[in-house]
Amino acid sequence: MGVATSATQIEGGDKNNSWYKFSMAGMCNDGTNCFRAADHYNRWKEDTDIMASLGVELYRMSIEWSRIEPEMGVFDQKALNHYREELEYIISKGIKPMVTLHHFSDPLWFEEMGGFNNKKSVELFTRYVKKVIEAIGDIVSDYITINEPNVYILNGYMLAYWPPLKGNYIKGFRVCKNMARCHIAAYNLIHKMRSEKGYSDTEVSFANHMVYFVPKNRKNILHRFCTSFYEYLFHTMINNSFLIGKTPLFMGKRLPKGRYYDFIGINYYTRRAIGFFTINDYEGERKSDLNWDVYPEGIRLISEDLYKKFGTKVYITENGVCDEKDTLREQYIKDHIKAVVYDGSPVKRYYHWSLLDNFEWREGEKARFGLVHVDYDTQKRTVRKSAEFYKKIIAEKSLDLLS
Ligand code: BGC
Repeated sequence: MGVATSATQIEGGDKNNSWYKFSMAGMCNDGTNCFRAADHYNRWKEDTDIMASLGVELYRMSIEWSRIEPEMGVFDQKALNHYREELEYIISKGIKPMVTLHHFSDPLWFEEMGGFNNKKSVELFTRYVKKVIEAIGDIVSDYITINEPNVYILNGYMLAYWPPLKGNYIKGFRVCKNMARCHIAAYNLIHKMRSEKGYSDTEVSFANHMVYFVPKNRKNILHRFCTSFYEYLFHTMINNSFLIGKTPLFMGKRLPKGRYYDFIGINYYTRRAIGFFTINDYEGERKSDLNWDVYPEGIRLISEDLYKKFGTKVYITENGVCDEKDTLREQYIKDHIKAVVYDGSPVKRYYHWSLLDNFEWREGEKARFGLVHVDYDTQKRTVRKSAEFYKKIIAEKSLDLLS
């Protein structure tokens, strides 16, 4: 069992990424920015020690592309060394790392040249991945190429809610295809580079944001139709494109068919209600601070469904709750783990989101997902009660704790 974070959300101090520009322009709902965040770039040792004290076995973290390549074609060896040092320390604590290569944030130079809407993105992304694998490939076996392309595309290219603030569906589909190309190229490259060095334990996939969609009104045929439509657009189309190179006809030239995954990565948080071309919060009994419905059964149903479709083990690469007062988190953890721990379950790993309170994208610092509370003014970390509970589950490996 493990925890997950992402670079832009915790590191702070980087001026070369798309979220820096976006948040410094005052675009976040609470007016905060990612330049401060949890100062993890300087405090990674302290944070790793906290992880170790919780008995965490697995840690999913990301690498900030804009630190590695602050200008197009210019690579920063110091930044590569920084991540290697951090990873070595994590491993020395007995924690197995999984590295995400792209988690929502783009280098500014990349955004300026059109990002994943530009065909060259595949070559550029692959070149960056090569640098990273050269630097850490001997000590890290597990990778997520791209985190939640569906959320990135929907918010950034369709709803114009996130950088790069585009509201153009045609661009969105092009970005989807180019991102799938990037994933496939990175998948092949990581395997090739590591196997040439004699490693046979490589595991690569992408992580998709999976929502349990239900019709707002089950009796309404249009709601039912839209539920299937969103299910296809948000889940099936993305999973098929990335995992097996299967794109719909309207996306034009096909991708090479193949198998581009060693596990299925699922980020699961909530259930949503689909109306007539609207996605709404589900009005359930338990709600997080962001008004997200708590529906543990969804994590099992989605995992089983994807296992049936793709026939391989599932890793829950994210699951967590926005809960500043820490009143829901313990039960949330209990219910979600319980839902996927049973004889014959396809779920083999669980990463809780998140280790620390962090910069929650457009919601800023206000939304708190951490097992560990962060006081952003002083950067003081305080382990929440729910983290102590998670620690117990890990240590005792006891299902009794879940009942
Ligand atoms: C993302 C995280 C985010 C979390 C909570 C996921 O969609 O990968 O970056 O913080 O959900 O919203």
